[in-house]
Amino acid sequence: MTVTVRSFAKINLGLYIGAVRADGFHELRTVYQTIALRDVIRVSVGRGSGIEISCTNKDPRVPLDSSNTCYRVAERVLDQLGVTSKVSIEIEKRLPVQGGMGAASSNAVATMIGLELALKKKLSPEARLRIAADVGSDLPLFLVGGTVLGVGRGEEVYPVTDLPALPMVVVTPEVGVSTPEAFADWDRLTRPQSSDRLFEVGCALSAWLSGLGSPNTGASAKGGSRAEKLLLDLVRTGIENDFEKVVFPKYPELRDIKGALERAGSSYASLSGSGSTLYGLFRSSGDAAKAAWRLRKQGLKAVATSTLTRQHYWKRIFD
Ligand code: C5P
Repeated sequence: MTVTVRSFAKINLGLYIGAVRADGFHELRTVYQTIALRDVIRVSVGRGSGIEISCTNKDPRVPLDSSNTCYRVAERVLDQLGVTSKVSIEIEKRLPVQGGMGAASSNAVATMIGLELALKKKLSPEARLRIAADVGSDLPLFLVGGTVLGVGRGEEVYPVTDLPALPMVVVTPEVGVSTPEAFADWDRLTRPQSSDRLFEVGCALSAWLSGLGSPNTGASAKGGSRAEKLLLDLVRTGIENDFEKVVFPKYPELRDIKGALERAGSSYASLSGSGSTLYGLFRSSGDAAKAAWRLRKQGLKAVATSTLTRQHYWKRIFD
């Protein structure tokens, strides 16, 4: 039996890095948002044992052994369910590797969802989240989808009132950025962060989230769309991605791409995660399409897409 699962990407709407914890991870605050770009994962089960991974695009940065996030999740799912089975996982790669869009994490969660269906067995929601967090900080968000608050090392996730679908442009430069290296660069750049900063960020995010749930955050008096108003409110909190401070000096071309997105009319442009993907949010899908076309003419790999609400994330995962 083969189950096909769409493995959607994410962006970070603001990402703040705090102190290094006793376990070596950094305390984080971020708002994750799932988007419509995706890989496809096919999970098959059969008689026997062993986990096999194949990938349509033979990028050497996608390991096909037990270090692959899909392998690591499959191993834990089988163990938790107490099942012996042969598992084949095919990754149809479209998303960039080391792109900051959570592709490897999303692939792993899609594997978990597909494997449960293929085996016709269910894990408890708590077991799913535990396995996801065990394999990587960016996995649990994909068990929630839509707009998600991430705290702790990013693995502690809370669904928040969903942002409506926002038109956007994603630019994927050729370069891959290593997240552990970006964190190490951050440590070299900054003195130990005081907890006050994350507290301040928490206050700003909490105020924004409270507004999100309120009925007054509807269409603005001047007739702007609800999405635009919600986005403006978020941008006004001063959202930024701390990784830009270490990634842009190392890869100046990425700073230039952010500038190009802004010049193409983006209302908010940023690096996603530790990059190298950059995105820009736009007022309409027409504006996003025009901007993507303009950026492609400048030789950039740009695509117009949109963010994915929680409802659409779960609906489209099996479409
Ligand atoms: O959790 P994940 O496997 O994605 O983390 C990869 C690496 O990134 C970790 O080994 C750690 O070096 C770094 N990291 C961190 N703080 C976080 C998340 C990741 O230092 N909050």
